[in-house]
Amino acid sequence: VVRPIAVQGAMDMEVDYFLKQMGDYKTETFGSYHFYSGKIEGVPVVVSQTNIGMVNASASTTLLIEKYHPKAIINQGTAGGHDPALHKFDIVVGEKSINYGWFQSAHRDAGAGVDTGSWKVLTEPVEPDPELYKTAMSVADRYQHGKVVSGVIGTSDAWNRELDRIKELHDTLGTSAEEMETGAVAEVAKTFNVPFLGIRILSNSELYAEDFDPKSADYCSEFVIEVIKEIESGV
Ligand code: 5AD
Repeated sequence: VVRPIAVQGAMDMEVDYFLKQMGDYKTETFGSYHFYSGKIEGVPVVVSQTNIGMVNASASTTLLIEKYHPKAIINQGTAGGHDPALHKFDIVVGEKSINYGWFQSAHRDAGAGVDTGSWKVLTEPVEPDPELYKTAMSVADRYQHGKVVSGVIGTSDAWNRELDRIKELHDTLGTSAEEMETGAVAEVAKTFNVPFLGIRILSNSELYAEDFDPKSADYCSEFVIEVIKEIESGV
């Protein structure tokens, strides 16, 4: 039995490029989650459309693992920039991911306001599979639309546009970018001992008023395919 490499994307635009590259594929749907099995450049893959957000990412990842027994999971797609050194189309290979939406605040009396700076994140960051991570970084120079850096991917069901909040997350957690799925998938993959890696492209950066650019989804997919080919050549 050949175990596929799983590639996840939340939105249509984050899976379309892979489907185009597969040409022929088999579609299966469980609940609202679509899975597409086929080959990309001869490599067996299952493309998993997680849909948006942590709940969807978790549920679909559990199905993915139980139904397809992938040998690795790559969660990829668009993200918003947190690091001033990064711009639209730069790619972050997750050296860590963190669910920053799980926190406890300190007590404050009625009328004392909200102090997000005192919110203590209670989840541990999750590290990727070291081999997958190394392999992705080793093909960084094949990417032409920006730079590829190692960084922290911050996950929650939030889209932050307040520059002070973005800076706070970057300063306290070291986040390079934010999105809504990677951290959830990392935790589920860890539970089932499946090798995991997150790869995210900046589709937007509030820091530079760089608005969401859908071209980023294809650019990220192209790079992920380079990573997949390199993973397979090493086996
Ligand atoms: N903040 C949060 N999520 C983002 N996404 C892209 N940019 C951002 C951002 N700045 C991704 C999420 C989700 C969808 C809304 O887009 O991962 O799937």
